[in-house]
Amino acid sequence: ADGARVPVLVIGTGYGGSVAALRLAQAGVEVHMIEMGMAWDTPGSDGKIFCNTREPDYRSYWLRTRTKAPLNYFLGFPIDRDIPRHTGILDAEEFAGITVYQGRGVGGGSLVNGGMAVTPKRENFAAVLPSVDADEMYGVYYPRANSGLGVGLVDPAWFDTTACYQYARVGRKHAQRSGFPFTFVPDVYDWDYMKQEAAGTVPQSALAGEILYGNNQGKKSLQKTYLARARATGKVTISPLHQVTSVAPAAGGGYTVRIDQLATDGSVTAAKTVTATRVFFAAGSVGTSKLLVKLKATGALPGLDDEVGKGWGDNGNVMCGRANHLWDPTGKLQSAIPCAGIDNWSAGGAFAEVAPLPTGIETYASFYLSITNTPHRAQFSWNAATGKVDLSWQTAWKQTSIDMAKTIFDKINAKEGTIYRTDLFGVYKIWGDHLTYHPLGGAVLNRATDNYGRLAGHPGLYVIDGSLIPGNTTVNPFVTITALAERNIEKIIATDL
Ligand code: FDA
Repeated sequence: ADGARVPVLVIGTGYGGSVAALRLAQAGVEVHMIEMGMAWDTPGSDGKIFCNTREPDYRSYWLRTRTKAPLNYFLGFPIDRDIPRHTGILDAEEFAGITVYQGRGVGGGSLVNGGMAVTPKRENFAAVLPSVDADEMYGVYYPRANSGLGVGLVDPAWFDTTACYQYARVGRKHAQRSGFPFTFVPDVYDWDYMKQEAAGTVPQSALAGEILYGNNQGKKSLQKTYLARARATGKVTISPLHQVTSVAPAAGGGYTVRIDQLATDGSVTAAKTVTATRVFFAAGSVGTSKLLVKLKATGALPGLDDEVGKGWGDNGNVMCGRANHLWDPTGKLQSAIPCAGIDNWSAGGAFAEVAPLPTGIETYASFYLSITNTPHRAQFSWNAATGKVDLSWQTAWKQTSIDMAKTIFDKINAKEGTIYRTDLFGVYKIWGDHLTYHPLGGAVLNRATDNYGRLAGHPGLYVIDGSLIPGNTTVNPFVTITALAERNIEKIIATDL
């Protein structure tokens, strides 16, 4: 409530924020979480909380009047459509050189992501987080994160026979025929539930194209894992449709936090002020970086380090499709949850997921999201003229990622006698190089913060989300974000409280 004084305020309810809230509450601390997106706990008139990828409606996008689908063309035709402006679940946030997709709502990115829960190979960890003890991470915090998130693997025998992974089996066959290591990708989806979907005994979700705009059944989003446990302590309150706009030192100690309450059309219905002894920035790589860069530049938090805003990367994301021969159909029923990957990281700098194209018709297309070892890093900066935060990323930098992805797909195309699809991202456009799903960095660990996320110059302020990670995790990022948060909050509880 307006004017309240609280011990801990957490900005954002994604992975970092949910870990912080659970562990602080278990340590006996009362936690208030502020989330700009909706609660996503009430069904619409169709009886469903979330819409699917085939029929995006008002629930799909954050304050847009037209959808902005990551895969925005099909057979060369644009597929975006008009929608009412609403505080929907997926934000396609546009910067000059890149569109950054993010989840909005209680659960953050866990609401919209594919649930692929990948722990980086240990030999790659030093490049991901150089100042963090790998023994501790692999001995304690990665296992803790995997169990807290409910990570599991597809049953390989079922994978081999089910219609909904025909597309992934084609991906495996082509990878193996070209000599690439193939791996199953773990996921937080309830695999038993998916088997029942395929058997027709429960309502379909992964098999009904539910992913990008939320999943109504089997996906274990944070609402079902960390946040459910946090709420069960009785010590955590969550305020959805509340957006933090400022944090500044308070006269009597602690921090004054300014918060706008939002209506579902995005308008501000109330402005509130709360005083918090400690504030955790968990607004995601972009959300946290934007706040910190603005607060430093405008003098609200003058003590922040010059490293704030730096070290941002796109996890090397690039997408492409391949056109298969008629004897390699990928299936008209495709599980929206990917489970297969092609690992060419050490030789070519690319890890590619065999992704679904859940259109409901046979496309003969194989679709891939590659994570690549791009060296490019961008910086957030305050633009006083526009009153906004800019990001220096350049679209041309994606060429490095494309070259790395080509180490896999040029070889597969040569072996199979196939070509790239040119109709998925425009007219005669092969590469999806305009976007990222995996924003990382902007308040990098041991640079903008100390080695546990404490912000320099302002005791009681912490960063605990993807902005701590300097631009790349070699695989999908949320397991690493969760494990790092587990590590940092344990230290903070032991030494600061
Ligand atoms: P996260 O973004 O989860 O949470 C931040 C929260 O803060 C959001 O809920 C936001 O609304 C809120 N917020 C921001 N600013 C605020 C403010 N000023 N006031 C109040 N609240 C504010 N990763 C992976 O490992 N496997 C996968 O399969 C995928 N797939 C995938 C698909 C798609 C479509 C997307 C968009 C992303 C993925 N990801 C993924 C990425 C993954 O979801 C992402 O890395 C994490 O959600 C990031 O976790 P954080 O805790 O950093 O922030």
